[in-house]
Amino acid sequence: MRVQAFLTALAATSLHEVAAKPLRRQEVDLATRIETEKKAALQGVLNNFGPDGSQAPGASAGVLIASPSTDNPNYYYTWTRDAALTLKMVIDEFLHGDEDLQSYIRDYVKSQAILQTVSNPSGALGSGRGLGEPKFYANLTRFNGDWGRPQRDGPALRATALITYTRYLLSTGIDSDNAEAKDIWLVIENDLNYVSQYWNQTGFDLWEEVDGSSFFTTAAQHRALVEGAALGKQLQQDVSAYESQAPNVLCFLQTFWNGKYAVANINVQQSDFSRSGIDANTVLTAIATFDPEASCDDTLFQPCSSRALANLKEYIDSFRTLYTINKDVSETGTGVATGRYAEDVYFNGNPWYLTTLAVPEQLYDAIQRWSTINTIAIDDTSLAFWQSVYPSAQIGTYTKGDSDFTKLIDAVLAYADGFVETALNYTPENGALAEQYSREDGTPLSARELTWSYASFVTMRAARLAATSDYAQVPSWGAPSSPQVPDTCTPSSVKGTYAPAVAAGAPADAPACTYIVTFNLNASTFYGENIYLFGNSTDLGDWRVSDALAGSAAAYTDERPLWTFMVELPAGAALEYKFVRKEPSGEVLYEVEDRSLGVPECGDEAPGEETVEDSWNGPVGGEME
Ligand SMILES: *[C@@H]1O[C@H](CO)[C@@H](O)[C@H](O)[C@H]1NC(C)=O
Ligand SMILES: *[C@@H]1O[C@H](CO)[C@@H](O)[C@H](O)[C@H]1NC(C)=O
Ligand SMILES: *[C@@H]1O[C@H](CO)[C@@H](O)[C@H](O)[C@H]1NC(C)=O
Ligand SMILES: *[C@@H]1O[C@H](CO)[C@@H](O)[C@H](O)[C@H]1NC(C)=O
Repeated sequence: MRVQAFLTALAATSLHEVAAKPLRRQEVDLATRIETEKKAALQGVLNNFGPDGSQAPGASAGVLIASPSTDNPNYYYTWTRDAALTLKMVIDEFLHGDEDLQSYIRDYVKSQAILQTVSNPSGALGSGRGLGEPKFYANLTRFNGDWGRPQRDGPALRATALITYTRYLLSTGIDSDNAEAKDIWLVIENDLNYVSQYWNQTGFDLWEEVDGSSFFTTAAQHRALVEGAALGKQLQQDVSAYESQAPNVLCFLQTFWNGKYAVANINVQQSDFSRSGIDANTVLTAIATFDPEASCDDTLFQPCSSRALANLKEYIDSFRTLYTINKDVSETGTGVATGRYAEDVYFNGNPWYLTTLAVPEQLYDAIQRWSTINTIAIDDTSLAFWQSVYPSAQIGTYTKGDSDFTKLIDAVLAYADGFVETALNYTPENGALAEQYSREDGTPLSARELTWSYASFVTMRAARLAATSDYAQVPSWGAPSSPQVPDTCTPSSVKGTYAPAVAAGAPADAPACTYIVTFNLNASTFYGENIYLFGNSTDLGDWRVSDALAGSAAAYTDERPLWTFMVELPAGAALEYKFVRKEPSGEVLYEVEDRSLGVPECGDEAPGEETVEDSWNGPVGGEME
C-alpha cells in the first residue's frame, strides 16, 4: 500500500507540475521527468500491441510489433526476443497492480501458443527447431526472407516471461485447479525442451549479426532452466532434462570471462569476425538475469557482482571518445551515451536508448542488493569501476552504518542518474523513443517508437524506484544461493518432445509430426550467384520466388558443387518444388521442370529424417565480364 500511495503521489505531482507551470526540462527534477516518460513509454508499448494498438494495424491479438516503422528500416514484424523481454516488463507492471495489463498478457500467451506451431525457415515444432526462428509477420505467418537464424534466446526469454506470470497465478490461488497455469505450462515446456536440446549449438546473437555462442543467450537459457525446473516441479512435471542441463549451461557461461570483461560472442562461425567483444549484450545480461535475492555472485553475473561491475566500466569506457555527443563528458564522468558495441556500423553506429538505459538499470539493481545485504565488497576486480564513480574508493568491505557505505551508494546513484539524464535529454518532448539517437547531435534515428526502447525505460524506472524506496521491482527467479559449477564443462543436449499447446490456444490441426528433409543439389555457381528452393506449399513459399528458401553453399567444393537446403515438412505431405538461381543482377533463372516429393508418413522416430539428391536442371547464369 505504501508503495501504491507513493506512486500515486508521484504521478499526481508530475501531472500537476507539468500541466500547471510548463517548466523548462532541466528544472523539473529527475524523478518527475522519469514518471512522465514512464507513462509515455508504457503507452508506447501498448500502442504497438495487436489487435487494438493505435500503431499496430493488422497485427493479430497478442502480437507486439517491434516498431511501427515499415520502411528504412522495416520493423513491422514481431520478434520473439523483443516481445518476450517486453512482456516480462508488462507482467512485472501487472504484478505491481496495473490490472488493465492482464488482457494483454492473456492475448500474448495465446499468440505464442499459435506462433510455436508456425513452421518457418528455422524448422517446425516437430523437431523444436522452429522455436528458434527470430521473427514473424505481425499476422502470425512465417517470414521467409534471408535472416540471421536461428536465434536461441527467444524461447528462453519467452519461458521466463510466462513462468513469471504462471508463478503469480499459482501464488494467488485464484486459478482453480491451476487450470490456466497448466495450459500455459504447455507453451513453457516446448520452450524449455528447446533450450535443453539446443543450448549447446551456435546461433545468432541478439543483434542478429554474429553466428556463435552469445553470452546473453547462454545466461538467459540458464535462468529459464532453473526457474522452469522449479515451476515444473510445482506442477508435478518431469523436469529432469532442465535439472541436468542447467549446471552445464552455467559452466559454459563461465568461459566467456576473459579476466577483464565478459566477451559477448565466442565460438564465432564467421571467419572475418574481429571485435573486442565489449558489447551491451553483457550489460543486458546482468539486468535480464537480476535476482533481488541472489548474492552478488560472479558466477551468475549479478548486477552487483565484481565481474559485472568491471564489465560495465569497460563497456562505458568504450564509448567515451567514440561519439561526438560525448565530448563534454569528462574522462570518468557520468552520462555517457552508449551504443551496442564500438565497431557498430548499422546506421553508421550510434548510441541506442535501450543500451544507454541498461547502464543505470544495472546500477540501480546493484544498489537494491547492497542496501538489502547492507554490505559492499570492493575487490581487485571491481576496484577500477569503483574508483571511476568514487575516486577515493579502496579495496575493502563496507557495511551499513559506515559513512563510506552511504557515500559509495550515493556515488553510484548519482552516476547512474547521469545516464538517465542523457537518455532523457535526447528524448523528444512527446516522449517517443526511437531505436537510436545520433552520435553527432542526438537526433532520434532508425526505427521510431521502438517497443524495446520503451520497455527499457519502464524497467529502468522500476529499478530506480526499488533502489530508492521499498518498491519491490521484480520477483526472485530462484537463483541458486551457492551455484554449483561443475569442475569440467560438458557438451550436452537432451532431445525434447514438442507438441502444439492446444489448451493454451494453438490450432488443433497443427502438424505435430514432421520430417527434416535435406535437399542436396549439385549446381555449379559463381561468386554472387545463389540458389533457392520453392514449391507448392506454405513451407516452400507457395511458388512465390520472393518467398523461396535460400540454400547454403557451406559444403560447396570444386569436386562437388553442393548446395544444401534443410526443410522441415509435415509427414505425409505431397509436394511439387524446383530450384531457382538468383543472379547478382537480380535476374532469376528457373529449372525447366517441376520436381515432386512424397514426405513419408509419421514414423516411430519423430521427427524423421530424409535426404533428397538432385542435380540442377535448367539454364545457367553467366558471370559478368
Ligand atoms: C501476412 O502479412 C504479410 C506481410 O504483410 C503478407 O504478405 C501476407 O499476405 C499476410 N498473410 C495473411 C495470411 O494475411
Ligand atoms: C558446448 O559446450 C562445451 C562445454 O561447455 C563448450 O566447450 C562448447 O564451446 C559448447 N559449444 C556450443 C556451440 O555451445
Ligand atoms: C502440391 O502438388 C501435389 C502434386 O501435384 C499435390 O498432390 C498437392 O496437393 C499440392 N499441395 C498443395 C499444398 O497444394
Ligand atoms: C552430385 O555430385 C556427386 C559428386 O560429383 C555425385 O556423386 C552425385 O551422384 C551427384 N548427384 C546427383 C543427383 O547427380
